[in-house]
Amino acid sequence: MALLKVVDREGIEHAVDGKVGLKVMETLRDLDYGVAAICGGMCSCATCHVYVDPDWRDRLPAPMADERELLSDLAHYDDGSRLSCQIEFTPQLDGLRVTIAPDE
Ligand code: FES
Repeated sequence: MALLKVVDREGIEHAVDGKVGLKVMETLRDLDYGVAAICGGMCSCATCHVYVDPDWRDRLPAPMADERELLSDLAHYDDGSRLSCQIEFTPQLDGLRVTIAPDE
């Protein structure tokens, strides 16, 4: 386990034990204030949309084309947007801070 900081849609920050070796989405969808992740991580629903804090953006692998394409169609897209099902939570990401994006 490693620390994952999650800001919910009310703006409240939570410190969560992140599931190392799994996608960030796998931790977030178990939370009452997390993500729906309707497609189960197939990169097709965007209900796992989060904003990654500026300090962490460069430490994540760049999004693949299918993730970029899905994100660019979102009304709430911004520079920190990522699909949490496409981010593997590695030990190096201990302390990662993400904000749950609004529902589309
Ligand atoms: S869970 Fe559907 S795109 Fe991430």
